[in-house]
Amino acid sequence: MFTIRKCKKKDISSVIKIENQSFENPYRENIFYHFLNSDKFLVAEVEGKVVGYIICDIRGDEGLIISIAVLRNYRRRGIGKALMEKSIELLETDVVMLTLREHNRAALRFYSKLGFKIKGMLKEYYENDDDAIVMKKRIN
Ligand SMILES: CC(C)(COP(=O)(O)OP(=O)(O)OC[C@H]1O[C@@H](n2cnc3c(N)ncnc32)[C@H](O)[C@@H]1OP(=O)(O)O)[C@@H](O)C(=O)NCCC(=O)NCCS
Repeated sequence: MFTIRKCKKKDISSVIKIENQSFENPYRENIFYHFLNSDKFLVAEVEGKVVGYIICDIRGDEGLIISIAVLRNYRRRGIGKALMEKSIELLETDVVMLTLREHNRAALRFYSKLGFKIKGMLKEYYENDDDAIVMKKRIN
């Protein structure tokens, strides 16, 4: 079983480990401190261990999933889905958007399963010139 709660300062080192394990181009640490005081930075915990996180935010009148990752050994247990569902509930927006790297097929399947649809591509969107897929979900 897992629980989902707001991220606290003491969780940041675990979140950074998850980030570094999950991404070739991880976010810098300062972004995690930046979102610490927002209510849209959540972690998933299993027996006291932080195993996943999500950061979302509101841009204009749309929700935006900024980042999500789950520790490799804890994937495919519904933790990512639960983090997404809780965030969408917190956002309270009619639309939620996200971007992912074009080659991240696991994430594409994950978001598609959650009802996100491809809206377009952004060429050379990332720092290393990877293309982005833009996805959108209408909530209401
Ligand atoms: C994407 C990620 C967060 C998914 O987390 P998760 O906890 O494994 O996801 P869930 O267990 O909730 O998956 C829900 C459904 O999504 C789909 N899915 C998830 N991972 C998948 C994969 N690797 N391949 C195919 N489908 C997948 C499945 O339909 C799954 O349901 P099922 O297990 O009953 O078949 C996780 O794989 C991860 O941390 N990846 C590395 C970081 C990353 O790429 N983040 C997204 C950046 S845009």
